[in-house]
Amino acid sequence: MRPRRLRSTSAIRRLVAQTDVEPRHLVLPMFVADGLTEPKPIDSMPGVVQHTMDSLRQAAQAAVAAGVGGLMLFGVPRAEDKDDIGSGADSADGVLNRALAAVRADLGDDTVLMADTCLDEFTDHGHCGVVDDQGRVDNDATLSRYAAMAVAQARAGAHVLGPSGMMDGQIAAIRAALDSAGYPDTALLAYTAKYASAFYGPFRDAVDSSLEGDRRTYQQDPANRAEAMRELELDLAEGADLVMVKPAMGYLDVLTDVAANSTVPVAAYQVSGEYSMISAAAQRGWIDRRGAILESLTSIRRAGASIVLTYWAAEVAEWLR
Ligand code: PBG
Repeated sequence: MRPRRLRSTSAIRRLVAQTDVEPRHLVLPMFVADGLTEPKPIDSMPGVVQHTMDSLRQAAQAAVAAGVGGLMLFGVPRAEDKDDIGSGADSADGVLNRALAAVRADLGDDTVLMADTCLDEFTDHGHCGVVDDQGRVDNDATLSRYAAMAVAQARAGAHVLGPSGMMDGQIAAIRAALDSAGYPDTALLAYTAKYASAFYGPFRDAVDSSLEGDRRTYQQDPANRAEAMRELELDLAEGADLVMVKPAMGYLDVLTDVAANSTVPVAAYQVSGEYSMISAAAQRGWIDRRGAILESLTSIRRAGASIVLTYWAAEVAEWLR
């Protein structure tokens, strides 16, 4: 037996490759900031910017022309527009809702337009929910804020909402709110297994996060694997249309578990820290940039993701075209 026979030419390797990465599998997360006159580079994520409304619209069109499967928008309000309940999240005037409406008007149904449904960018304390007088994130008070935010995002034109706050019952609460507001066709991408990760560090710069402290009372402990199955059962029962694991590369075991047990499509989010690590090593010449990017995406697909959120989505889609 000689396994090397199937590795001997690039033609035969191509013939037998089990996993592929195609532009349609990739979703591009994008940041749009209020009050900017030009796009603002994010220092810790070389090549990623906070967009103005105009540059967002142009970049969205370019990414869709390159063939990406979808776009996921995050809003960055001005500091003076943040408050303790994240009012900017559900106001039609809020930066994210304006951006969703603009991109939907430009692209219609030519792409899948997704929205981050979470309060952390909009709250002055930076938590993903409403904080009670003891300083704890109040689960059930937060659910009604998510419901209002979701309805505003559906109204603005998002096709898919991604509730990323890890509150218990968030999928059920948002589903009910959308259905009763007349948006039964807006889909939910549940952040099923979202871990309290150090790899979100650069994202907090990207959204000018005000958070002090951490999210360990709502995001999952990196030590736990079985808990992801429990979250999956709940999200499926509550009506999730798609489920996600986040981060990706440190959690490929969780991704494999979720993929094996999910009856809906599975996504994985290659987060900011994963992006920055490869970018930084490549900038120093310590790693082959393109090879590392493609290998990371192949690994995430191989572990079971049908969809991958990655800040390289548009660039990789160009490479693969
Ligand atoms: C919270 C949210 C976070 C990310 C996406 N949504 C940050 C967090 O939970 O602290 C991280 C994404 C990334 O690191 O690329 N709304």
